[in-house]
Formats: sequence, structure tokens, C-alpha cells
Amino acid sequence: MIGDTIKYLREKEYVSGEVLAQKLGISRVAVWKQIQKLKDMGYKITSEQNLGYCLVSRPDLLLPQEIQRGLSTNYVGKEIYYFPELKSTNIMAKEKTLHRAEGIDQGTLIIAERQSAGKGRLGREWFSPAGGIWLSIILYPQLSPSYISRITLMTAVAVVKAIKVCTQIESQIKWPNDILINEKKVCGILTEMSAELDIINWVVVGIGINVNIGHREFPENIQENTISLKEASGKEVLRVKLVQTFLQEFEKYYEILKRREFPSILKEWKLYSHTLGRKIRVDTGEKIITGEAVDINEEGALILKKEDSELAEIISGTILK
Ligand code: BTN
Repeated sequence: MIGDTIKYLREKEYVSGEVLAQKLGISRVAVWKQIQKLKDMGYKITSEQNLGYCLVSRPDLLLPQEIQRGLSTNYVGKEIYYFPELKSTNIMAKEKTLHRAEGIDQGTLIIAERQSAGKGRLGREWFSPAGGIWLSIILYPQLSPSYISRITLMTAVAVVKAIKVCTQIESQIKWPNDILINEKKVCGILTEMSAELDIINWVVVGIGINVNIGHREFPENIQENTISLKEASGKEVLRVKLVQTFLQEFEKYYEILKRREFPSILKEWKLYSHTLGRKIRVDTGEKIITGEAVDINEEGALILKKEDSELAEIISGTILK
């Protein structure tokens, strides 16, 4: 209802309460209540007795009705759960997957303005103040669990594309899930799944993008290696537009992945790669392997050429400094 009300309001133009009531199929008193709700959310709306209501400005919030306005996806973001603050959108998304039978569909989005306990990879904390984009997407892929790394890689490509479209900034992907600008991290991806032997039950893709965050806001221990889009571009970035663009890119690449055409995504990933061609050390959790990153294979594994020229295939790990 709120989404419809905002749809029928006009910017710089008055719409009468009567017209709104008719369009929404509710009473004029109910229209007034909707207007109050919108004002509480941060919309500026003026009212004139004989003219009706006029939308003056929209809040800078990632409200579902704002994201869905003009969103051209078929299913990603069709259902959005919005929270001013949440512990972690990934935790909430995982809880939601328990209610799949009650209509938590593929592409459902959980989004928060702030996270009080944002999760990074390997149990790390993820700093998530107001001004960033913190969201999780629920998927039910009919793919084998081995596809999980490919989902992370395709998400990274979608983020790079969306950043480029919205800010003109060229970012790079550090295998497997970091997006960098000028060698500093601007976005992280946390993909979690539940699977049985050869079938995935659900996947939650969590994306955190440092958007309109001042450099000094970041905790000191991460300041050196962290950047926001506002810092990199020198101006505030329209978060709603960035979310919309990302969701569109995400759905596009996910469809390609589902058609088992990952190699074409991989080609793009390689174009944006920060990792290939570098001498690196990778912590696989079991050991540390040193070598030159020579390729990513069709399963999303990193291929390292070790000092003895032998090739190592690493499906998951962290690149060390
Ligand atoms: C990493 O680079 O370590 C991954 C960071 C992922 C952060 C995002 S923010 C939205 C989603 N919810 C979380 O708690 N984490 C992910």
C-alpha cells in the first residue's frame, strides 16, 4: 500500500486526496494516514486544502518502494525485507530460508541501513554503519554445491559492473570475493549455503559496499586498507540507483550461470582481475601456498604456479598481504 501511495504522488505537482483515494481504493481518511506514514519514513510531502498532496523530496534510504521503482528484474528484489538496523542481513536471510514454503521466493532481498553485527569471511566482523549498502539475496539454485565459488565470482562481476555504471569508477576483483579500488577494499561478498551431497538447499549471497562513508568513520585498524565510493569519487553516490543496477546485473549473470555458461562470466572476471599475474601467498586453511596466480579454472578455482613450477588448484582460501 505504501509503495502504491508513493507511486501515485507527484513531484512538483499536487494530486488531490480524492484521486489518491480512488486510485488506491481506500477512503480519504485512509489516504491521510498513508501520507502520515510516508512522512514518518522521511518523505517530505506538502498538503494544500484545495489541491491535495505534493511530494517534495524522498529520503535517502534504501526503502523497498524506492528500490522497486524502475527495477527491471524478473525476480531478484521483487520481495524486499527492509530494516533500519539489523544484526546481520545474512543471518536474517538464513532465517527466512526456513520459511521457503510460506513464500520466501528465490531472489528475496534482505536489506539494512546499518548492521550491528555484520559478518565478514572467516568469522571476521564487518563494519556496517549508515551510508553503506548491506544486503543479502536468497537463492535456491538447482546446481551442484560445487557451484558455490562460481556464484561468488559472478556476484563480484555484477558489483564491478554496477560500480562502473553508477560512478564511472573501475574497480578490480581480488580473488575470491574482494572488490578493490586503488588497492583498497570497497566491497566484500559473503556467500553461505546449505547443501546435501549433490544438491543445494539454499544460498545466501551477502554483499557489503562502502558507499557514502567518510574515511575517518572506519575503525583505525582497517582505515589503511579500506575505501568508500564517496571517497574514491569525491561525491555522494545515489545508493538506490546502485542497488537497482547491482540487482539487475546480478540477475543477468545468475541466469547465465544457471544456463551453465560460466566460462563467459569468467572471461569478464579475468578482465577485472586484480589477482592474475601477481606473485601471492594464499592461506587455504590447511597450509600457505606461494606462487604466481596464473589462472582461474572453470570451477572458479585459483591456479597458482608454485616456485617449483608445479600448478596448485585452490578452490577456497585467502590471499595474504
Ligand atoms: C568479507 O569480505 O569478509 C565479506 C563481507 C560481507 C559483508 C556483507 S554486508 C551484508 C551481508 N551481511 C553480513 O553480515 N555480511 C554480508
